[in-house]
Amino acid sequence: MRSSNLNLALSLVVFACACGDDTTFTPPATPHFGESTTDELLAAMTLEEKVDQMHGASFAPVNDLYETPKNERLGIPGLRMVDGPRGVRAGHATAFPVAAARAATWDPELERRVGAAIGEEASAKGATVLLAPTINVLRHPAWGRAQETYGEDSTLIGDMGTAFVMGAEEHVLACAKHFAANSIEDTRFDVNVTIDERALREVYLPHFRQLVTEGGVSVVMSAYNKVNGQYASENEHLLSDILKGDWAFEGFVVSDWVFGTHSTAPAANAGLDIEMPSGTYFGPLLVEAVHNGSVDEAVIDDAVRRILDKQLAASLKPISDASVVESDEHRSLARDVAVEGMVLLKNEGVLPLAKPTGQSTVAIVGALASIANLGDTGSSAVTPTSAVAPLDGLEALVGAEHTVFLPGPSLSAADLTSLQGVDAAVVVVGLTSDDEGEGVATKGGDRETLRLSSEDEALILSVAANAPRTVVVLEAGSAIVVRPWVDQVGAVLMAWYPGLEGGNALASVLFGDAAPGGRLPVSFPADEADLPVFDHSSLEVQYGFLHGYRYLDAMGRNPEFAFGFGLSYTTFEMTNLVLDSTSKASGDVLTVSVDVENTGARAGDAVVQIYVHPESSEVERAPRDLRGFARVPLAIGEKRTVDVPLSVDAWAYFDVATNQFVLEPGDYVVEAGSSSRELPLNATVTISP
Ligand code: BGC
Repeated sequence: MRSSNLNLALSLVVFACACGDDTTFTPPATPHFGESTTDELLAAMTLEEKVDQMHGASFAPVNDLYETPKNERLGIPGLRMVDGPRGVRAGHATAFPVAAARAATWDPELERRVGAAIGEEASAKGATVLLAPTINVLRHPAWGRAQETYGEDSTLIGDMGTAFVMGAEEHVLACAKHFAANSIEDTRFDVNVTIDERALREVYLPHFRQLVTEGGVSVVMSAYNKVNGQYASENEHLLSDILKGDWAFEGFVVSDWVFGTHSTAPAANAGLDIEMPSGTYFGPLLVEAVHNGSVDEAVIDDAVRRILDKQLAASLKPISDASVVESDEHRSLARDVAVEGMVLLKNEGVLPLAKPTGQSTVAIVGALASIANLGDTGSSAVTPTSAVAPLDGLEALVGAEHTVFLPGPSLSAADLTSLQGVDAAVVVVGLTSDDEGEGVATKGGDRETLRLSSEDEALILSVAANAPRTVVVLEAGSAIVVRPWVDQVGAVLMAWYPGLEGGNALASVLFGDAAPGGRLPVSFPADEADLPVFDHSSLEVQYGFLHGYRYLDAMGRNPEFAFGFGLSYTTFEMTNLVLDSTSKASGDVLTVSVDVENTGARAGDAVVQIYVHPESSEVERAPRDLRGFARVPLAIGEKRTVDVPLSVDAWAYFDVATNQFVLEPGDYVVEAGSSSRELPLNATVTISP
């Protein structure tokens, strides 16, 4: 089957859940294991009963939940799985800002609360497994699923993903996906990613390891794609050597849906534990494989022990009440996150806008202004009962009588005249699920360009030529090339897909009731040609060691807006970088402290970012790597000393000769500042052998 047909087939199966209809959940009558231990249960199970636990029950979800079979005889409840990364894809649920927006908060504690809220809603819907977070590296901003992950840097992804997992696992089992090297959408089912062991271990896997070892994530989903010639779901190196071996992962591995499993014995022997959503390869064929000796029963026992242990863990978690779904508390959390994640990219004294009074008005321009643009409609889709569009948010805050809505896409002469009489114009442009997202049927998929559509670019320029002040609000899941128009406008605000309270969050930021707090989790290049090539049609791609800011830094190319960058309505000064010691060794933590002061006239949040690089190295290194960060709220004039602890072992490189991480002795430069390109402070620490 060609890829587009595969996508269509998948959309009929996986996306059959239209969602939006409310489902009621009745807890199963006997969701317990009686008094039996996992080992006793295993001993009591027939081979068929064991294999039954190793695949989904059906292609069709029940109440929007994908199930694995119960075992009534032994009181095994089975699992109930639901997406996803920005909220629960079952009935109505709170649609949070997408993970890209949440990454822009650089606030793991806030992300822990989001994970807990989504986990709580998943539990209230009857799920025991939440198919989130997505933690693939955003290798290139054109990846269709960019919005689902936490940006381009493995330290940021790891810290945010770990926080999400810790929150979600209070209520359900969380699932880190898609393991691994899944960063292209259009060819996702079959693309072979060739990658050397260093890039794999140092760039594409460290955050997965962190979610396993620090986050205690219970479930890992294998990717669709191949890695070095083998499908991820039957990749022994990934699943057995690294995940279950090196990292001692105790949970279970589930395949990605429908086209994510390709074999019986190779997949089972490699370490895949559950085929989803049905048992094409892991049903009777797996029983047969044990009988004919191609799979040892010990492999089955290992898988089933993992699955039963986690079912037991899930059954001990509290079942949430239906009232938590779309609760006021979750709505207001979604709004706070949207505010904290909005990134002010440019502001020439335009924002915050004065609230219009008397006869004055503010124009809001563009078709997206009247739409609550929640993001992808693939597996990460969430359907809230109601959602606030930018226009609704503006009208609610400043009054409809002070708001002029011009939908475009082109503006009439009368529109242009009316723009000359407004205080300011806010142009809302960007992408929708038609332009980027999970590659389903004819929509979404990878982006063809990082620029806006020609209509959007023309709209911005015509508004800028007529309105006294022009603010551009961007909605998208990752970087946009703004060079063709950015010099003509007064302010640019990156709003991402800001969730069900997005319109209210946006209005409060535009008019200064709240301050935009985000910093970019992805570099915005000046020109797409400055980035590595993104090949989304070939079935053979090579992943290199450098991408994102590391690549731009190494190539000496200036981004339009650097990784980590974001303005505020106030100003900050960072001074006095102090290391707790200038000499460290493997196993140590280096505490970096920096004084940060709010030097402006408003309260605001600074984000202190710490980057590290060795003075010299035996191997290729990125010019600098983000190794730690801290978000700090500061009142006007407030000054605080911020401590950022760094584990020095994270600076090790993977030595392919000895197959282990090596922390090179020598001097390392520790830089601190407000983005990957604004690092005014530095000091040196020596790592002793
Ligand atoms: C996606 C997964 C998702 C699964 C179940 C797949 O197509 O890649 O992220 O969890 O469907 O909906």
